[in-house]
Amino acid sequence: MTTTRDDALALDAADPLAPLREQFVLPDGVIYLDGNSLGVLPRATPGRVREVVEAEWGQGLIRSWNDAGWITLPQRVGDKIGRLVGARPGELVVADSTSVNLFKVLSAALALASEGEPQRLDVVSERSNFPTDLYIAEALLRERGGRLVLVDAPEAILPRLDGHCAVLLLTHVNYRTGRMHDLAALTRAAHEAGALVVWDLAHSAGAVPVDLHAANADFAVGCGYKYLNGGPGAPAFVWVHPRHADRFRQPLAGWMGHASPFEFEPGYRPASGIARYLVGTPPLLSLAALDCGVDTVLAAEPLGGIAALRAKSLALTQLFIGHVEALCPQLELASPRDDAARGSQACFAHPSMAYPVVQALIARGVIGDFRAPDILRFGFTPLYTRFVDAWDAAAHLHAVLAGGEWRRPEFNRRQAVT
Ligand SMILES: Cc1ncc(COP(=O)(O)O)c(C=O)c1O
Repeated sequence: MTTTRDDALALDAADPLAPLREQFVLPDGVIYLDGNSLGVLPRATPGRVREVVEAEWGQGLIRSWNDAGWITLPQRVGDKIGRLVGARPGELVVADSTSVNLFKVLSAALALASEGEPQRLDVVSERSNFPTDLYIAEALLRERGGRLVLVDAPEAILPRLDGHCAVLLLTHVNYRTGRMHDLAALTRAAHEAGALVVWDLAHSAGAVPVDLHAANADFAVGCGYKYLNGGPGAPAFVWVHPRHADRFRQPLAGWMGHASPFEFEPGYRPASGIARYLVGTPPLLSLAALDCGVDTVLAAEPLGGIAALRAKSLALTQLFIGHVEALCPQLELASPRDDAARGSQACFAHPSMAYPVVQALIARGVIGDFRAPDILRFGFTPLYTRFVDAWDAAAHLHAVLAGGEWRRPEFNRRQAVT
């Protein structure tokens, strides 16, 4: 375990990824441990968005759809994200939100899984999955019939993959605890049971290694505003294995997913491949910002890419966990201790004071978040988080607890976003 602040500073001095931090605007006096919720602003983004607004929109006007390549940006940014999750060029597009993309792929997966096996109607997922995933599944199943089967522990998944299971719907890295599934093993198990798998990569893309092709996965969606640093409300991404991509007309049949949008035909003909998962006009300003964000992650490629980021992320969470456990015995580790099962976050639980402690930390400039009912959540983005940040954050946490700072009334008033 790293025991002194100087040890942490020495790790930073020896860190080959340290220069990547220069890509970001980081406010003075802030230790940002919430990049798993909203990534940090890349330095390149304001200039690029200004260029899109002033030159491409302001001067180019509608010509920019062709001249500036706006119309192909969902595919071009999609190809870049594909490099981070093991998708091949032309297989992944940026579109809509994670929630909406989930609706599209879950519809497709349910239709495909029940082909020739009409009794396969159910979706198996975890009660701890991100709520939007469960809500979307619930709504779809209300229309189609079939049950949403929720398990309470990862070990309970396999027994539920029976002849009624159409789709296994999982989030790779749990939003609350950071627990990470074995994506390849669970995909294999679902296939052996005759089911398809939908993976939510919201807390994975840009943070942990994912190889969708090597895992032979079926469908995946993910988020642009977390580890991809695309900015608040950045568009999301959707990937479908090429063996499925042409087989289903996803239900949101919009003109951007048409084979020839500018023929303006009255009837829908889906584009081939992943392009049919596009729906409406892409949000260009947000896409341009996401492009800059994805570039900040790709900038790690010459330095070892995702494997190097993962190694640093594990070292950061190890340091933080070790230090917090040594200083704050009243908190219980809620993330897996096993590196292989932990994403890029480190979370602790406390039954009553988790929320005010997080608020007191934020007042000190240490920004993590609270996830109901009892989780203090800290995300570690190795692109810009330093070892000394992990060390200092643990020291602040100790100070907040030891001094009773969290008891102050202003830290106990619940805000809309926690
Ligand atoms: C795992 C997971 N899935 C889905 C979502 C929802 O994403 P969106 O609100 O962009 O649709 C989130 C948002 O935080 C998430 O963490």
